[in-house]
Amino acid sequence: MRKTGIFAALALSAAVATPAIAQLDVEEQIETRQSAFTFAAWNMGKIKAQAIDGTVAYNEQQMLAAANAIASVANSGLGGLFGPGSANDKNDNTRLKPVFFDKPEKAREVAIGFAQAANKLQEVAANGGGKGALAAQFSEVGKSCKACHDEFRAE
Ligand code: HEC
Repeated sequence: MRKTGIFAALALSAAVATPAIAQLDVEEQIETRQSAFTFAAWNMGKIKAQAIDGTVAYNEQQMLAAANAIASVANSGLGGLFGPGSANDKNDNTRLKPVFFDKPEKAREVAIGFAQAANKLQEVAANGGGKGALAAQFSEVGKSCKACHDEFRAE
């Protein structure tokens, strides 16, 4: 699991270094990554509602489905959606800061953090770790989202 995460995260930095990997045009990359993050956030919301807020009854299967979805996003090779010219100095439809392209090491670090946290979340959910364990790892995933946003997402 952990290895997969690191590999996916490395793929992110590799895509930054070799933009030829990108298959979609810039507009499509932006739309697709925004959708991916929105989808991840939707699934984070389910875990928050059931494992933290308790506004929805706790359902282990639904928690596993949500964790699987978040891990899938984290391991999908998101780097292919961060091609050159896709930051907000060149395109008005995005909140990606141009500094993303100046800090490949930092980009790699936050991507690895996200993948590792998401893989662990999946592991906890798959092992039926229970509400408390899931809530704790949810918080770690949330921190990994924030680490990237603080650095690379404009207000
Ligand atoms: C590797 C960096 C990174 C990670 C990790 C990350 N995000 Fe983001 N997120 C961004 C960037 C950059 C944008 C802005 C994308 C754009 O506008 O092109 C964004 C945008 C978003 C958006 C707005 C999407 C839209 O329609 O504009 C949401 C919601 C979001 N992220 C939630 C999350 C959640 C929840 C997580 C963790 C589960 C997460 N993000 C992890 C970088 C990241």
